[in-house]
Amino acid sequence: MAAKPVDRRARRLVVLVSGSGTNLQALLDEIAATGVAAYGAEIVAVGADRDGIEGLARAERSGVPTFVRKVKDYGTREEWDAALAEAVAAHEPDLVVSAGFMKIVGKEFLARFGGRFVNTHPALLPSFPGAHGVRDALAYGARVTGCTVHFVDDGVDTGPIIAQGVVEVRDEDYEDEGVALHERIKEVERKLLVDVVGRLARNGYRIEGRKVVIQ
Ligand code: GRF
Repeated sequence: MAAKPVDRRARRLVVLVSGSGTNLQALLDEIAATGVAAYGAEIVAVGADRDGIEGLARAERSGVPTFVRKVKDYGTREEWDAALAEAVAAHEPDLVVSAGFMKIVGKEFLARFGGRFVNTHPALLPSFPGAHGVRDALAYGARVTGCTVHFVDDGVDTGPIIAQGVVEVRDEDYEDEGVALHERIKEVERKLLVDVVGRLARNGYRIEGRKVVIQ
């Protein structure tokens, strides 16, 4: 009997950003260096919640289509959420990656992309969720922190964890309110995100309760 054909189709990624986009750049660089087929995924669009950010400029320089959906342009948060979901869906992604996207998505977005929406967070979840993960870890006096790549659910940074990276806190990190610490976290985070997204795309995965199994 003939073997079942292997699906060699590259996964389509939409990446969402709100800022400098160095995580996005790490993905763009890896895909350019490795090739779409070998990496297993390509970035088909980059979306943002604001204009004028380096993240969008990085996409444009790489020839990747961009879109912007700002909360203030919609009557309600739900309308914005539906518009964002529609804009993402137009690119028919297999996976959506929040790489420094500083907005919480709503019901409509999760109904369409739940289970294939990945976020990267600059702390070791479940410690220090929310918008100030680096600052909060320092304020608590944690001696190690790091980053977490996880699937997004309807809580704030509460979805199933895919992978984590650890970074030590240094005494001098208290002198600049965590700026240097965040940079060290981001070095680890970029490598982790590139590794995780590639493995999800190439190998496939399933989510069993809290556990993510990459095949
Ligand atoms: C990352 O540390 C991410 O976890 C956090 O914001 C940072 C984004 O960095 N939410 P960049 O825009 O990818 O450079």
